[in-house]
Amino acid sequence: MRMVDMIEKKRDGHALTNEEISFVINGYTDGSIPDYQMSAFQMAVYFQGMTLEETAQFTMAMVESGDQVDLSAIEGVKVDKHSTGGVGDTTTLVLAPLVAALGIPVAKMSGRGLGHTGGTLDKLESVPGFHIEITDKEFFDLVNTNKIAVIGQSGNITPADKKIYSLRDVTATVSSIPLIASSIMSKKIAAGSDAIVLDVKVGTGAFMKDLDMARELAGEMVQIGNKIGRQTMAVISDMNQPLGYAIGNALEVKEAVETLQGNGPEDLHELCLTLGSHMVRLAGKADSTEEARKMLEEVIQNGKALEVFKLFLQAQGGDTSVIDDLSKLPTAQYKIDVPAKEAGYVSAITADEIGTAAMLLGAGRATKESEIDLAVGLVLHKKIGDSVEVGESLVTIHSNTEDIESVKEKIYHAYGVSASKVQPVKLVHDEITR
Ligand code: URA
Ligand code: CA
Repeated sequence: MRMVDMIEKKRDGHALTNEEISFVINGYTDGSIPDYQMSAFQMAVYFQGMTLEETAQFTMAMVESGDQVDLSAIEGVKVDKHSTGGVGDTTTLVLAPLVAALGIPVAKMSGRGLGHTGGTLDKLESVPGFHIEITDKEFFDLVNTNKIAVIGQSGNITPADKKIYSLRDVTATVSSIPLIASSIMSKKIAAGSDAIVLDVKVGTGAFMKDLDMARELAGEMVQIGNKIGRQTMAVISDMNQPLGYAIGNALEVKEAVETLQGNGPEDLHELCLTLGSHMVRLAGKADSTEEARKMLEEVIQNGKALEVFKLFLQAQGGDTSVIDDLSKLPTAQYKIDVPAKEAGYVSAITADEIGTAAMLLGAGRATKESEIDLAVGLVLHKKIGDSVEVGESLVTIHSNTEDIESVKEKIYHAYGVSASKVQPVKLVHDEITR
């Protein structure tokens, strides 16, 4: 086979065979196909698209380019959740203990990412002593006994995707639905779970800005997952404003604990119940999402979900007295309010700008080498649709420096206030099962 023929075939709008797709992925991964040919191929895909068959094969070839996690030592149906990324998204911290409390095994592998705040791993390290340096055996044993554990990412997962994603980044081919869908699904499938619940974010603060695009991406991922033999469904949720109130590592741990106690922000609580009920149903623990939702509400009310969270932290060295007394979590030196300059109704909160403000405070990493400050971040007091008076606090900045002018500026820029009444935004836009 010759790469030039693959490019020509795709350029002219034809579908490649499974062997041809594997040839492209394997050749690019091992270096026998150069960047310039892969660039041309991706641009052809960008314009011509791929069939479901091609996209599924593209995904599997990327999965097989590296190590695949084997979770067979864990009993039960392993269900994973994946979010396409938003600001202040505390759902993983809540969902993991919440579904584990119903006996669903949560075997999480976590790495340190870049972003507005740290990853789930950084957030958990707000609990003194908590660590993920455990052996594979300890990890499997903990999941079998407590139903939940987190271990550091090891091995070489989807090297093909790493190489292809970097090339797409510099060749204007990121925003192609089959390329995004296969990229995300390859990583999820290599991570070894039996079923996958996707949280596809849509809105100003999301990768997908409009609902039609989000639906198309979700549909494509759900079809790939099911075709490859992993039960997959997607929830399309709103990211026109940050989720919950807290953005920052320790601040989000506090918010997660409050949500596990039933006292969290309404949107975060609702999204966790929606995603959680699909996870419970896919795990075979309930016949319907309605039944699953009732079960989840029960473990919040009877304290079991929080109990499981503490058990999990303790098993990995965490000092859970900080969960019983949240004021013992890392705390910033200064708490500075950002007062509203005009009265009316909040009409917009640009999630990207709020994320950048949190990053400026030190809550997130700009580069892989950056140190993050677990204590700092933002707590929103007003969400879209809320009424606001002049001088009322929009946001409290938690900072370890008094030099916060640029942070304030971002916050003012992010907030839109309208004189007329504004409707609150819808949280769950759609649920896609096929
Ligand atoms: N996230 C991914 O992992 N891959 C993409 O292509 C886009 C977003
Ligand atoms: Ca939050």
